[in-house]
Amino acid sequence: MKSKTTNKILGVVGSPRKKGNTHILVSRILKGAEDQGSPTEILFLGDLNISECDGCHICWKGKQCSKKDDMNKIYPKIIQSDVIIFGTPVYWYGPTALMKCFIDRFVSFNYPENRAKIRGKLAVIAVPFEEENPKTANLLVNFFKKSLQYLEMQLIDKILVPGVSRRGDIVKKGDQLEKGYKLGIKLAKYDR
Ligand SMILES: Cc1cc2nc3c(=O)[nH]c(=O)nc-3n(C[C@H](O)[C@H](O)[C@H](O)COP(=O)(O)O)c2cc1C
Repeated sequence: MKSKTTNKILGVVGSPRKKGNTHILVSRILKGAEDQGSPTEILFLGDLNISECDGCHICWKGKQCSKKDDMNKIYPKIIQSDVIIFGTPVYWYGPTALMKCFIDRFVSFNYPENRAKIRGKLAVIAVPFEEENPKTANLLVNFFKKSLQYLEMQLIDKILVPGVSRRGDIVKKGDQLEKGYKLGIKLAKYDR
């Protein structure tokens, strides 16, 4: 019997802070997948120039985005991946502006001829935040649920980590990082 090939995984860090809680969590998920043989890549949105969507809809005419920025080299990475990890801290009960700009540019996948390039891809969200109440992330979780559902992607899991504020606080949450590592193991061979 043919064994399942490993999934290709794209980890996206939407926090501007390198070595921050989101970066550490996304890296841990990727490590679990890599240890199972998955090819992985991590993107730091803060290192990239990704502008907001203008709503010009040129992408709906089958043309390349009118914004000549780094998103045009990220689209092929999205299309070639099986799994996308959306990592963002809670910023004012929503995602960071970096993550919001990134997601806004997914509007090009609404063009019917582009839909097949995103349909069925697996997604997970990885979300640290300061407050202790897990409901703090409700709006953000709903934003991803609705948007990914609209795009016909499959949101298969989420890791919410309350109670982390300063850069690297998450290392004290060994159980959450372990959960991340195990999620990575699962993602490596998860059936699409
Ligand atoms: C602009 C800004 C807004 C924030 N808003 C919230 C918030 O609404 N609720 C919350 O619990 N934490 C909030 N935080 C705290 C971050 O979610 C928290 O520090 C998180 O661990 C940062 O992750 P990072 O280390 O990956 O950047 C905010 C932080 C900043 C800088």
